[in-house]
Amino acid sequence: RFSTVAVRASAQINPSIRKSEEKVADFVKVEDLPKPKAVYCRCWRSSKFPMCDGAHVKHNKETGDNVGPLVIESPTA
Ligand code: FES
Repeated sequence: RFSTVAVRASAQINPSIRKSEEKVADFVKVEDLPKPKAVYCRCWRSSKFPMCDGAHVKHNKETGDNVGPLVIESPTA
């Protein structure tokens, strides 16, 4: 038998980032993006979230997953 709390916790993809918030959402204005590119985390393991710090590499090796960042390139870079 599984408890509802245990099942809900195992279904979560965010292990630790800003858990006190109801929903983690970030807004960036295009003109504020770093040049030549901005690299955003999509694996929820980065210590620099919402930016990628390469933690997806370890996650993929440990789990067999294939997640990677969102890379936004500046048109004026
Ligand atoms: Fe999460 Fe790179 S650290 S995608």
